[in-house]
Amino acid sequence: MREWIVAGNWKMHNNVAESIALAKAIREGLTAIKNGEVVIAPTFTALFSVGEIIKGSRISLAAQDMHYEDKGAFTGEISPAMLKDVGCIYVIIGHSERRKYFHEQDNDVNLKVKKALMIGLKPIVCVGETDEERVKGVTQSVVGRQLKEGLSGVEKIDNVVIAYEPVWAIGTGKVATPEQAQEVHFFIRGILKNLYGGSTADDIRVLYGGSVTKDNIGDLIAMKDIDGALVGGASLKVDSFLGIIKVISSKQ
Ligand code: 13P
Repeated sequence: MREWIVAGNWKMHNNVAESIALAKAIREGLTAIKNGEVVIAPTFTALFSVGEIIKGSRISLAAQDMHYEDKGAFTGEISPAMLKDVGCIYVIIGHSERRKYFHEQDNDVNLKVKKALMIGLKPIVCVGETDEERVKGVTQSVVGRQLKEGLSGVEKIDNVVIAYEPVWAIGTGKVATPEQAQEVHFFIRGILKNLYGGSTADDIRVLYGGSVTKDNIGDLIAMKDIDGALVGGASLKVDSFLGIIKVISSKQ
């Protein structure tokens, strides 16, 4: 049985004080929830402070990205060990905004995934097609390539989480239908089965991301291969984030 995850990706929002306030409110609001896993990914500057706030709670800290080198002359970058040092358990890798604005390629994603696992961070690996790619009918080849190249040489995937985030659904209010999402999640699980065998693939959590709200998550989470959500906009307000968690938690 796969345990659900709801992960909040705060992107480039919230200063330190705002991040602390939001993390405190989430922690307080979660006391009634007894199952599942909650992850929050503040900006780098707020990681340490938020880590202190959620210490001893059921919330795990995540970073939104990292570099794949241990250290060195890489101005502006953050190393995996630095993330561990401030209490990160997870790290989001290959988000479509990294791919689009910062030209990250599948090979970069692969180097990061391997390094994260090596150092003991759990990567949340993002895949997803653009609107244009969906219209062209190449969703599966795009997602399949991102997944296979992103995981190339990764022998053990127990600590990997996959997030299917169709680019056209991110920040647009245009959520994928449960059937559209399930189709790709089923495809992803099929690839994982081919690569790692059925029983391993059956244990890997595959999250959906893209315009998730507390009003649409119920139908998405009812799908067999959807194991939680990676949430952007709706993770920035305590009520909407907790609302998503409560819907998922009540359905499991
Ligand atoms: P939205 O929930 O704002 O669409 O963002 C999704 C996302 O990119 C999470 O990583």
